[in-house]
Amino acid sequence: MCGIVGFVGQGNTKDILLAGLSRLEYRGYDSAGIALYSQPFTMVKAVGKLEELKKKVSASKDCQLPYSMGIGHTRWATHGKASEKNAHPHLSMHKEVVLVHNGIIENFAELKTFLQEQGYSFYSDTDTEVAVNLIEYYYRKDKDILKALFSVQKELKGSYAFAIMFQEDAKTLYAMRKDSPLIVGKGENAFYLASDVSAFLDYTNEIYPVENREILSLSEKEIHIYNKNGEEVKRSSTIAELSQRQIHKGEYLHFMEKEIFEQPKVVKDTLLYACNQENEEPAGNAENPKFSYEAFSMTEKDFQEISRVRVIACGSAYHAGWVLKSVCESLARVPVQVELASEFRYNHPILEKGELVISISQSGETADTLAALKEAKKLGAKTLSIVNVKGSAIARESDFVFYTQAGPEIAVATTKAYSCQLAAGYIFSLLLAKAKGKISKEETRSLTEELFLLPGKIQQCLSFDQEILPMAKELKDADNIFFLGRGLDWAISMEGALKLKEISYIHCESYSSGELKHGTISLIEKGSPVIGLLSQEELAGKSISNIHEVRSRGAKCFAIRMEDIAIEEEDFAHNLIVPKTHPLFAGSLLVLPLQFLSYQVSLLKGFDPDKPRNLAKSVTVE
Ligand code: F6R
Repeated sequence: MCGIVGFVGQGNTKDILLAGLSRLEYRGYDSAGIALYSQPFTMVKAVGKLEELKKKVSASKDCQLPYSMGIGHTRWATHGKASEKNAHPHLSMHKEVVLVHNGIIENFAELKTFLQEQGYSFYSDTDTEVAVNLIEYYYRKDKDILKALFSVQKELKGSYAFAIMFQEDAKTLYAMRKDSPLIVGKGENAFYLASDVSAFLDYTNEIYPVENREILSLSEKEIHIYNKNGEEVKRSSTIAELSQRQIHKGEYLHFMEKEIFEQPKVVKDTLLYACNQENEEPAGNAENPKFSYEAFSMTEKDFQEISRVRVIACGSAYHAGWVLKSVCESLARVPVQVELASEFRYNHPILEKGELVISISQSGETADTLAALKEAKKLGAKTLSIVNVKGSAIARESDFVFYTQAGPEIAVATTKAYSCQLAAGYIFSLLLAKAKGKISKEETRSLTEELFLLPGKIQQCLSFDQEILPMAKELKDADNIFFLGRGLDWAISMEGALKLKEISYIHCESYSSGELKHGTISLIEKGSPVIGLLSQEELAGKSISNIHEVRSRGAKCFAIRMEDIAIEEEDFAHNLIVPKTHPLFAGSLLVLPLQFLSYQVSLLKGFDPDKPRNLAKSVTVE
């Protein structure tokens, strides 16, 4: 969702801000803007794609002047529709303060009333305009910038990362954050500020992470960081783990394509991460790898004490939770309940002693998941997060963390992070089964071995990139597509349907094969496309019967199946085969043709698969 950037120092401020915003496009937005320090501030805003803003900036004579400080923003509309008046930066009523904001001010209504009583009027529908005026209010009262920011910090409820400029101070960029990401980059005679390091990685990889409730002042040569008590904090810079290569598309047309192709590597990295923990004896060796409890920052005893598992997550991460459920219940015989994080708090949750709450999240920022996690903690549960972004809010909030090793995922539709979440779920289940004495040493060894064969098999599935094209061509004009599966296949079909609908805008639904006849089958008519997933030997017969039921009502059927699952090929318009693996891990292979199908259909329909309409990469609002 919203992305912020800031720059102060020697450099082409305008170009640096626009380049930073381009790097943050993946977060999702529907308007954008910049403010450059001048007297008065120079501001340009535009609705729609960043290209619109760039055009306006090029056309503005004022923007061509040299500037040494500025802020920028991509906005994903929450309070008020996408319009120029609601786009950031927002200017205070007396034009003394301008800021950009990522987050939500929860008590904005009462603060607005307070400010109105003080004579403030508002031009936008946003919560952010309330924040900028509150800052100005305290600033005019105290005549002290830092003091004003500390006063505002005490008043604001909700989440925010702000980059702020004051008319009074031509040389200092101010920032503050709570529960929204913010990172500082140190350049030569310059400082950068952004929601995400990728925004300035082309200029520097020397970074200062910013902690919750810290306030910063940045000038050409100096950085000052203050904690919530107003004390100055000394912090050394570090080098960002992210490399430039990771944030560029390289030879690929889209990030989604690049990220699908990265899956063999990142799944392997996740498996290896689970074996080799820093400061620990490396567990196992190349021939005989062993997963370690410590990878989850847990002990064997922690695992033994788990009596039930509750997974809370959203979207694809929620689908990964369903796979974890199947595998964990099968291997460890520990009951697992999977819940939508957005529903968890409102379902009067009952958590038992010994129940581990697992939140799964790529970004580690998803507001629904974070809120559910906080609720679980309030109810006394032990919490584990399976997260991709290091140090993210969800990781910090959890008792235990497992970091998937997907690296930065830029395409809005998740692919590689989802695959790593599946791998994390397998490893967790295996360790739980081992700790509970539910599987023998021999079984543990053979399942581990099988897991280490997965990256190679995922590699084989990359050939679906082209193989899927004929099927994609047949499906691209469909209005509705049905996905069917039983057990684990159903869990994967949910992900296949979501992937296709989110980037091709075709209505897709996944149904448990057995459930179809209880209502949905009435939707099947001549030519309705139905994609059947078939990877579970013992369920295949039943699933095939369900496919026959729709076929005999005119459906056009497609099969994606594991090698060795027998079907009557002539019953299917297309029949795609993934290599054989242990049935519990089959989802990691079935998902590849489904990802490629979505990607290709999106391309065939002329859409940009990396930036589907209305969607944001990190969903930081509830
Ligand atoms: C779909 C997708 C979303 C996310 C969901 C949760 O392709 O990416 O459904 O899975 O928004 O996001 P995270 O994993 O960041 O919590």
